[in-house]
Amino acid sequence: MMEYLTLNTGAKVPVLGFGTYLIEPRDTKQAVYEAIKAGYRSIDTSQDYYNEKEVGQGITQAISAGLVKREDLFVTTKVDTDGYKQGKKGIEESLSKLGLDYLDMMILHWPRRDDLGSYQALEEYYHAGKIKAIGLSNFNIAQTKKMIEQTEVKPVVDQIETNLNLQQGKMHDFLLSEGIVHESWSPLAQGAQNLNTNPVLAKIGQKYGKTGVQVLSRFLTQWHVMTIPRSISPEHIKSNFDIFDFQLTADEMTDIRQLDQHRSQGGWPSSMQVDA
Ligand SMILES: NC(=O)c1ccc[n+]([C@@H]2O[C@H](COP(=O)([O-])OP(=O)(O)OC[C@H]3O[C@@H](n4cnc5c(N)ncnc54)[C@H](OP(=O)(O)O)[C@@H]3O)[C@@H](O)[C@H]2O)c1
Repeated sequence: MMEYLTLNTGAKVPVLGFGTYLIEPRDTKQAVYEAIKAGYRSIDTSQDYYNEKEVGQGITQAISAGLVKREDLFVTTKVDTDGYKQGKKGIEESLSKLGLDYLDMMILHWPRRDDLGSYQALEEYYHAGKIKAIGLSNFNIAQTKKMIEQTEVKPVVDQIETNLNLQQGKMHDFLLSEGIVHESWSPLAQGAQNLNTNPVLAKIGQKYGKTGVQVLSRFLTQWHVMTIPRSISPEHIKSNFDIFDFQLTADEMTDIRQLDQHRSQGGWPSSMQVDA
């Protein structure tokens, strides 16, 4: 059974969703359809992934097949433009490519020169009811504070790199204190770490009949981190979703917290390192 987090708008959001970064446009429609069929209700894309159109097609196919209603989905995309004017144009394009009347959430993909202008565009669509929740991604504590102080609508999430090696404890506590949901990107470190052979995860997994990947996703979701693993494998799509029939003990949560190395998987611009 899916679990939910409550955004500071009062809206409920599934704690586990489906990521679509690096999914080729030709694979995206099917992957999104498979994810919805497997039970995912939250889908994450971006203007920067060049697959919004195909994400929209997967959603349309799932709705047409009677798998889900639009109002039961939580669709997120991200702003890849800079400033107010370009922001508005980009929002219109995202709505059009996704084929949706409204977005459940739209977030600034990363800090740029004119974040206040970009955010103002999001606020305008939020007030018009065309975007139900707005937020941030890759903003550190100082950058997030500035947005809170200088904008009208408080961000609902900050989506930041968060996985076994980079758990973002400081950001987590800061976001919690501000009533902003901590959302993880690359929860599986892009498949780079062999999570299924990590001895701590494997030992815990043995107890519950789960893989290391499932234990890690359970850890993140139980820590109230919104988590959006990506996969094009139907088998992984299903198993990544199968994490709600067990609970980690407080000791197991602590054991996994202790595996934090405060280390990014790397390869990302320094502006995206927010372990502070
Ligand atoms: N805001 C940002 O700046 C930002 C940056 C990066 C990502 N994101 C978001 O976060 C989402 C997730 O991050 P990500 O796409 O970077 O990577 P990820 O979810 O951490 O990892 C995806 C990789 O893990 C593999 N995988 C998935 N399930 C598995 C399983 N059960 N066992 C073994 N391997 C498995 C996938 O391969 P298979 O396809 O073979 O399963 C894929 O290679 C993205 O899709 C995107 O929506 C946001």
